[in-house]
Amino acid sequence: MAEQKTLIQANGVCRDIPIKKGIIFPRQVGMLHAVNNVSISVYAGETLALVGQSGAGKTTLGLMMLGLIEPTSGEIVFDGQNLLAATREQRRKIVQDSQLVFQDPVASLNPQLSAGQSIELPLLNLGWERKKRQERVRELLDMVSLSPSHATHYPHQFSGGQAQRVAIARALAGSPRFVVLDEPVSALDVTIQAQIINLLKDLQARLQLTYLFIAHNLDVVYYMSDRVAVMSHGRLVELGECDEVIRNPKHELTKELVSSSI
Ligand SMILES: Nc1ncnc2c1ncn2[C@@H]1O[C@H](COP(=O)(O)OP(=O)(O)OP(=O)(O)O)[C@@H](O)[C@H]1O
Ligand SMILES: [Mg+2]
Repeated sequence: MAEQKTLIQANGVCRDIPIKKGIIFPRQVGMLHAVNNVSISVYAGETLALVGQSGAGKTTLGLMMLGLIEPTSGEIVFDGQNLLAATREQRRKIVQDSQLVFQDPVASLNPQLSAGQSIELPLLNLGWERKKRQERVRELLDMVSLSPSHATHYPHQFSGGQAQRVAIARALAGSPRFVVLDEPVSALDVTIQAQIINLLKDLQARLQLTYLFIAHNLDVVYYMSDRVAVMSHGRLVELGECDEVIRNPKHELTKELVSSSI
């Protein structure tokens, strides 16, 4: 990658979660370091994969990078702007610039809203007028290769792959620059996985998106990502170019992940 402008940066970020015991009189018995002193930069336009075992802290780090949960300590800097020090207006803009796509597409959509309404909702919140919203919904459906008639369908009427296309369209509605993809294809059939991965790659090239791609499957990571970061028990244990890390893994966990994906 020629240009390496940092879009989003985590500096010594921690997220501590109290461990409590007892239902009637809960008392704190310890502290879980869900994310433990992680420093990492995501370059503009790249796909940075985040891998690691279940419970390693990947989702927690992703949510902190989106400003959806606050770090216990450390800072998140989005395009030069410290998220914690941002004013409400600056924060609103940053949050609009970042979006999340979840693992389970059907569960991530409101069952009471049609696809069109789901995609339109962020635009309504941004104060767009009705005609512009409807035009944008048509444009977004086309971008994710769904037809205009899908706008009236409800989540239960979609296949997993179609529902993920709707969720992607919704995430892109407000033209974000940074998208956290939290295992976006893990719940899908293998043949559909490839279609969604290709769609995400096409959209990235077309819209100059920056992705944090949380994943388990290193094959998909290899196909999709520029760099890969490996987390274990809340810590960042390895980070490098995708080719390099997969060909020459250094940390034990990375070696395990590579050997289990061959
Ligand atoms: N709100 C919460 N309350 C209690 N514990 C939490 C909370 N959020 C996260 N944790 C704990 O923090 C740790 C990291 O969780 P996180 O969901 O970030 O892991 P992950 O790497 O995304 O795992 P997975 O691959 O299973 O999605 C786990 O031990 C989890 O149980
Ligand atoms: Mg997770």
